Amino acid sequence: MGLSRRINSFFDDRFDTETARRFIDKQAHKRLPPHISWFHVFGSLALLLFVSQTITGILLLIYYRPTPEAAYSSIQYITTEVHFGWLYRQIHAWGATLMILVVVLHMVRTYFSGAYKKPRELTWVTGVLIFILTIIFGFTGYLLPWNQIAFWATTIGTESAGKVPFIGEWLLYFLRGGEVVTGETLSRFFVVHVIILPWILTGLIAVHLVLMRLSNLATLEPVGEEKPIPPGHGIPFFPVHVAKEAVVAILLLAGLVTLSILSPWEIGEPANPLVTPAHIKPEWYFLPSYQLLKYFEGPYGAVVGIVACSLPFGLLLFWPFLDRGKERHPRKRPWAVGIGLFGLMAALFLGILGHFSGTDVTLLGRRYHIDLLGRPERLMDEPTSHNPVEH
Ligand code: HEM
Repeated sequence: MGLSRRINSFFDDRFDTETARRFIDKQAHKRLPPHISWFHVFGSLALLLFVSQTITGILLLIYYRPTPEAAYSSIQYITTEVHFGWLYRQIHAWGATLMILVVVLHMVRTYFSGAYKKPRELTWVTGVLIFILTIIFGFTGYLLPWNQIAFWATTIGTESAGKVPFIGEWLLYFLRGGEVVTGETLSRFFVVHVIILPWILTGLIAVHLVLMRLSNLATLEPVGEEKPIPPGHGIPFFPVHVAKEAVVAILLLAGLVTLSILSPWEIGEPANPLVTPAHIKPEWYFLPSYQLLKYFEGPYGAVVGIVACSLPFGLLLFWPFLDRGKERHPRKRPWAVGIGLFGLMAALFLGILGHFSGTDVTLLGRRYHIDLLGRPERLMDEPTSHNPVEH
């Protein structure tokens, strides 16, 4: 008997493998709705990135040390001494950014195709929770190298938490483990980043996938009018959709390695609590909130700012229960599509203002200073050293 037959019969003699086989077969050969396209690969890409983050994160943990004295040098050691340490550190750093991007794209796809409507409300709600946790993953991981930019970005980020109405002071203390960012903060962020979030996210992703499988992928039919896909119709999950996912997965992994080589994340200077660097900006996914908060100054303004930043997340979470229209097709939901586009444009606009605020830019040959609120101010041309000869 061949080896695989012997392994099979070992399990067949002990367990009800027939039921398991039938289950796997049914899942693998499920038919997907005919409109399934390349936009439907973002969910599995997010899953791939989560797995990649877990593997590279475990590798980083072997040499990383979560103390103010050793964190920075342990990252330096990983990138310069450990075999392929530079590569898996870069893949982890780029993977974090790409994971947030891919999760946003997946959310945009499910939003515009109305896939959050009944009976998939809970698939969406678990998705929004995953999105929020992914952002917190990024925030907590950013501090771990204990470099200048991380230290000060965390100081500024936690300061915003201190402005939350009623519980702000407590929240600030809770996040920092004291009044200022110290080794106490590093330990807290470390535990959240490597223990608490991975386990919660694993559980949430599992629930999300089970819910998605239980209600099948949405068609574009209105709520209550979706019909089961007749045998022989639709697109087979395996091999057709899986092949598409594999192509995109290979491109993504190639992209991750290329970015790691061509545009590595620099570690910069070690954290110095006594020297505030000139321009500290948060990561791109915090730029819209960072910019929005600037327009609300003073004790009451800050409270309004925090509410304005949290409101979109609350709206997202409860959106399937607020938008109760039956149509799914984007062309038949002008309001929902309009609100979605407005939200995306507003985030993009605020993000761009946040990125350029406090810098000088050249536009169409003219130089401008962009102030902290994002207002451009024309700069006078500097006199050139070369004086034209007078005739
Ligand atoms: C790590 C994060 C996530 C993973 C691994 C994940 C995974 C998946 C996968 C594999 C699918 C099926 C195929 C597809 O549409 O791509 C799916 C469907 C879905 N996801 Fe996610 N997802 C994540 C985050 C999110 C987020 C942030 C949201 C929304 C806020 C969301 C909402 C949905 C919905 C509504 C569906 C059903 C789509 C339909 O029926 O057409 N997911 N998810």
